[in-house]
Order: sequence, then structure tokens, then C-alpha cells
Amino acid sequence: MAAVSRWPENVVVFLYAVFFFHTFSSAQRDPGYTFMHQATTAPIVSYYDYIIVGGGTAGCPLAATLSQNSSVLLLERGGSPYGNTNITDLAAFGVALSDLSPTSPAQRFVSEDGVVSARARVLGGGSCLNAGFYSRAGHDYVRLAGWDARLVNESYQWVEKVVAFQPQMKQWQSAVRDGLVEAGIRPYNGFTYDHMYGTKVGGTIFDQNGHRHTAADLLQYANPSGLTVLLHAPVHQILFNNQEGSKPKAHGVIFMDANGLSHRAYLNRGPNNEVIVSSGALGSPQLLMFSGIGPKEQLDAHNIPVLLDQPLVGLGMSDNPMNAVFVPSPQPVEVSLIEVVGITHNGTYIEAASGENFASGTRTRDYGMFSPRIGQLSTLPPKQRTQEAIDKAVEDMQALPQSAFLGGFILEKIMGPVSTGHLELTSRSPNDNPLVTFNYFKEPEDLQRCVDGMKIIENVIESNSFSSFRFHYLSIVTLLNMTASSPINLLPKHANASRSLEQFCKDTVMTIWHFHGGCVVGRVVDHDYKVMGIDSLRVIDGSTFRNSPGTNPQASVMMLGRYMGVKMLRQRST
Ligand SMILES: Cc1cc2nc3c(=O)[nH]c(=O)nc-3n(C[C@H](O)[C@H](O)[C@H](O)COP(=O)(O)OP(=O)(O)OC[C@H]3O[C@@H](n4cnc5c(N)ncnc54)[C@H](O)[C@@H]3O)c2cc1C
Ligand SMILES: *[C@@H]1O[C@H](CO)[C@@H](O)[C@H](O)[C@H]1NC(C)=O
Ligand SMILES: *[C@@H]1O[C@H](CO)[C@@H](O)[C@H](O)[C@H]1NC(C)=O
Ligand SMILES: *[C@@H]1O[C@H](CO)[C@@H](O)[C@H](O)[C@H]1NC(C)=O
Ligand SMILES: *[C@@H]1O[C@H](CO)[C@@H](O)[C@H](O)[C@H]1NC(C)=O
Ligand SMILES: *[C@@H]1O[C@H](CO)[C@@H](O)[C@H](O)[C@H]1NC(C)=O
Ligand SMILES: *[C@@H]1O[C@H](CO)[C@@H](O)[C@H](O)[C@H]1NC(C)=O
Repeated sequence: MAAVSRWPENVVVFLYAVFFFHTFSSAQRDPGYTFMHQATTAPIVSYYDYIIVGGGTAGCPLAATLSQNSSVLLLERGGSPYGNTNITDLAAFGVALSDLSPTSPAQRFVSEDGVVSARARVLGGGSCLNAGFYSRAGHDYVRLAGWDARLVNESYQWVEKVVAFQPQMKQWQSAVRDGLVEAGIRPYNGFTYDHMYGTKVGGTIFDQNGHRHTAADLLQYANPSGLTVLLHAPVHQILFNNQEGSKPKAHGVIFMDANGLSHRAYLNRGPNNEVIVSSGALGSPQLLMFSGIGPKEQLDAHNIPVLLDQPLVGLGMSDNPMNAVFVPSPQPVEVSLIEVVGITHNGTYIEAASGENFASGTRTRDYGMFSPRIGQLSTLPPKQRTQEAIDKAVEDMQALPQSAFLGGFILEKIMGPVSTGHLELTSRSPNDNPLVTFNYFKEPEDLQRCVDGMKIIENVIESNSFSSFRFHYLSIVTLLNMTASSPINLLPKHANASRSLEQFCKDTVMTIWHFHGGCVVGRVVDHDYKVMGIDSLRVIDGSTFRNSPGTNPQASVMMLGRYMGVKMLRQRST
């Protein structure tokens, strides 16, 4: 590749410095939760006021809150995040996502669209894997959701005290920020968690030392005598009292431990006691279906007795497409994940990430959020991203000169999206992935948003502010060509990608992992997150969203866990 060989090779010292800094940084301190145990130590039968399935981004704040004045069991199918530098170090982003073993905190799945993605399998959920950007939902979103704005504010603050930080903003991210303002994404709103049109520096769950703080850290708010957290405790089924003439009522769950032993947890008697499903956008609709709540044909196909024929379970699955442009830099760049965002009027959000990522103790070359190792392969259209193609791309990447890893990606995520898909069971085990179809860009509106976003990215790249981080002899078309073909894996150029931005959007689509839906409010759950047609059962997590909140969702997912916990405790005391 002509372009690659022309890049300067004088930046090795800087990259070694980055490597040593992260090698000597330590893992996040284990809080030593006295209430956290392996499921193998649990009794065969036990009783609680609340049983929460899924210790993820919503499940942890919910459990911490409910434990204040009731007995709570939190069941998580994965293990603890503490002491694992693959999770806690910023520069290790991608290591967990590239670990394909059954004990990995990330479980890879490939959507039927062909885009490679991952879902969490660890206490703390997606907040243990994600790029850390922390940004609240907009006022309009809060109003349309029918949420109590004051309690929403208080709940965000409760979350932020523990997990949100101001990013350090070094040169490359600063250049993107100034480029966005220059490109007309105004006003500049400074550093804020709030969602406002214009350009801003958002929050991050990585602290000043590059250490990740996750939803599992919110368990430090828990009342230790009110909470039991069980790890490696996949729930296979929700149990119901089903008496004729009244609605089925959830009263317990069946979970397995690591030795394959089956346990039952039941609700104590009491009008306010409930089972809450917080298993994420793939896990929550999946568990409802395992338990007999879902489309009858699908349940029949897996010999699951139908409790409630509910065709809307597993519908409304959406993933916000992510498209990015790789911009090689003539000078060193910092290693950064998302720190700034341009919130445009064009239905698109512009963000960026830079630098080569290193896992502590390894020397594998990686682009962090854009590594084929984690399945991000914009060089091939989605359906062609086979495991062989991924392996080839990873191999080719190791042969690139170190200078090829200088630079960064400016990305866009579209709002919404409007396009939706569906989920189907493949088995009756919560350890297996269901089949998911997101239908990226099926609706023309989504494709138009992507095209508009790409135009804005072009303007950022061409801004004066960004000029020292790009090679001027590389035109925008060349950059698009490179993103869609050469620098990452040296595969032959894909002739269609730069022909039109529409084609570029379709061919290079990746995920920003903001997939949501499956138990959407107003369809499967009501506005109190209660499963319609069933008593004592709620779903509280990202599966309930019709649209992804904010520019990035995790702030609002954690907020929702706290918010609903407070509401449920209030209901208990009236
Ligand atoms: C790689 C990546 C990068 C991202 N980057 C960002 C970002 O920078 N900013 C941002 O705001 N958002 C980001 N996100 C999105 C955000 O992290 C997710 O939207 C959010 O974590 C979803 O939360 P949840 O509670 O709905 O699900 P999860 O956090 O996934 O929690 C579900 C939990 O339930 C468990 N579970 C599932 N089924 C069962 C069962 N049957 N029994 C027991 N346990 C079960 C799972 O193991 C999991 O821990 C990113 C996500 C990923 C994966
Ligand atoms: C971190 O990831 C690497 C690579 O996938 C894996 O070999 C290692 O066991 C992981 N470490 C932990 C603590 O899980
Ligand atoms: C919530 O907080 C934002 C600022 O973070 C403020 O603008 C808004 O008025 C607050 N709303 C309520 C109802 O307190
Ligand atoms: C984005 O929206 C603004 C304001 O509506 C408009 O002026 C601009 O032309 C749009 N940009 C693109 C690329 O469509
Ligand atoms: C981009 O790729 C297309 C298709 O291979 C090619 O026709 C075009 O000349 C390339 N443009 C640049 C500037 O590299
Ligand atoms: C490129 O476009 C042509 C014409 O639309 C199409 O036949 C071909 O399959 C496309 N190639 C790829 C790799 O998508
Ligand atoms: C705690 O719950 C009990 C009922 O279980 C209720 O009577 C009491 O008011 C609650 N207290 C608080 C502070 O919520």
C-alpha cells in the first residue's frame, strides 16, 4: 500500500511510553463485598422480597437501592469484574471483547445482518466492556418517557458520585472538539453530562488513572444485610402461580450453579414482592420466552408451554449503526476512547477515538474500538465478515508498520434508529445467544442520517483545528477508501465503498453496541415497567427502550435502575 509505506516511522518511543504507563497501572481495587458469593454456595431453596435477574448496568443500581429496606437476591450469569485488568484498564479496551472463551466477560454474537457484536457476561454488565462515555438523556427524552424529571436528576447524580469523571482531554480529542465547532456544531457547551445541541466534552467512567468504574461499584451503596449477589448463576426460568380466573403471578426463579446443580429462589409472601428481569436487550426477551411469555409459534417450536401468547416479545430490536473514517496522523496521538460529542440537528452524533491500544503485558497491535480482533471489520460488507476474514485481517494487521497505528477514527452514530428487527430463540439455555436481526439502514431515513453525518465528519477532518492530525496529501476520498479497504488489513480495495456515501454507510457499518429493545415500553411492559398481563414481574433495563437515550445510553440505563428502585421502595412504604 503506497499510503502506508509513506507514513513516518519515528513515533515508536511515544508508543513504548504508553505501553509502560499501562503495564504498571494497577487493577481497580476489589471492594470486598461481603454479600457476593458463587452460586455453588447457595441453598437449594431460598426466599427474598425481590429477585433480580441480571447484575448488569441496570440490575446493580436497582439491587443496591432495593436492599435499603427489603431483602434482595441479585443473580448474575457471569463472574466478578474485580481484579481483572482486561476490564479495568482503558488501554485494554478490546481485550475482553476479543476473548472468545466461555469464561470471557464478553459473549460475542453476530447479528443476522452480519455485524459482529458482543453482550456482557459479568457483574456490572456492559459497563465493564464499554468505551466509557457518560452522557445523560435529553429533556425531551425524559418528558416523552413520562419519567419524573426531578427524580431522574437525583438518580443521575446518585450514579455520577461513584462512576462519572471528567476526561483529561489531550491534543487529539481537543482537535476533534475544535473541529466540530468549526464545522458548525455549535454552540460549544464545555464539559457537561447534559444533552444539548452543539459540541461538548462528556463524562467518562474512566478515572484520571485510566481505571474503569462500573455499575458493580454502585453496589457499595447497598445495605449489606439486605442483599445477596450470586455469581455464575444463570436463570433458566421464571416460576409462576397460575390460578384460573386471575393473571399469572411471578413467584420465583430457577437458576443453575457452576456444578450444574439447580436452585430455586422464591418470593416471600407480600403484596409488593416481585421478580425483576434486568438481563439486557438480548437476555430479557430471551428469559421471558424461556418462561412461556412470547410469540406462541416460537414457544411451540422449542416445546415451551405457553403462559401468555405475547407476539411483541422480541420485537423492536434496534442497533444504532456506527460508521467511521480512519484518519492517519503525521504526529503522535494519545490513546483515547470517546470524550467529545457533536450533537447535531441532523439526527446524528459525532464522536472519536484515537491511538493504538495495548493490553497489559501483551504486544498485540490493536485499534481499540476499531479492531478486527473484536469483530469490527469495516473493510468488508457485513455478510462477508466471516471468522476466516477476521483472522486474516488480524494477521495482516500485525504486519503493518507501527506508524500505521498513529491516528484515530472519527465516527458517527445515528439517532433512533427508525429501523427495527426481531429476536428468535435458538435453544432453551441463557448461555446461548438468540438470533437477532437489526435491519441496519432498512428505513431510508436512517441511511440519510448516516450520509449527513459523513458529510459533517468530512468537514471536521478538513477543519483548520484538525489540520495537524492529518496528512494533507490524503484526500477525503482516499481516507474513505482506506477505511473501507487498505490500512487495517491490506485486503484488496472494495470498489463500491467510495462510490457514494450511501454505499459507504451500508458497506462499512459496524456497531457502537447500543442495541436495545425486545421488551419495549407500551408493548411488553407498561410505563411502570410491569410486564403486561402478568403480576409481580417487571423488566428494567435497555430492552425496554424504543430509542437509545442520550448520545450513548449507559448513564440512562444506570439512572433507570436507581430511579425504579426508589419508586418501588416508595410504593412499599405507602
Ligand atoms: C463494547 C461496548 C461499548 C459501549 N460503549 C458505550 C459507551 O461508551 N457509552 C455508553 O453510554 N454506552 C456504551 N455501551 C452500551 C452500554 O454499555 C449498554 O447499553 C448497557 O450496558 C446495557 O445495560 P443493560 O443493563 O440493559 O444490560 P447489561 O449491562 O448487558 O446487563 C445484563 C446482565 O444480565 C446478565 N444476564 C443475562 N441473562 C441472564 C440470565 N438468564 N441469568 C442471569 N444473568 C443474566 C448478563 O450477564 C449481564 O451482566 C457500550 C456497550 C458495549 C458492549
Ligand atoms: C485477559 O484476556 C486475555 C486474552 O483474551 C486472556 O488470555 C486472559 O486470561 C484474560 N485475563 C483474565 C484475568 O481474564
Ligand atoms: C435537572 O437538571 C438540569 C441540569 O442538570 C436542569 O436544567 C433541570 O431543570 C433539572 N430538572 C429538574 C426537574 O430538576
Ligand atoms: C444539518 O442541519 C443543519 C441545520 O438544520 C443544516 O443547516 C445542514 O445543512 C445539515 N447538514 C447536512 C450535512 O445535512
Ligand atoms: C477510491 O477507490 C475507488 C475504487 O477502487 C477508485 O476508483 C478511486 O480512484 C479511489 N480514489 C482515491 C482517491 O484513492
Ligand atoms: C458492488 O456493486 C455492484 C453493482 O451494484 C454489485 O453487483 C456488487 O455485488 C457490489 N460488490 C460488493 C462487494 O458489494
Ligand atoms: C420499609 O418497608 C416497610 C414494609 O416492608 C414499610 O412499612 C416501611 O415504611 C419502609 N420504610 C422505608 C423507609 O421505606
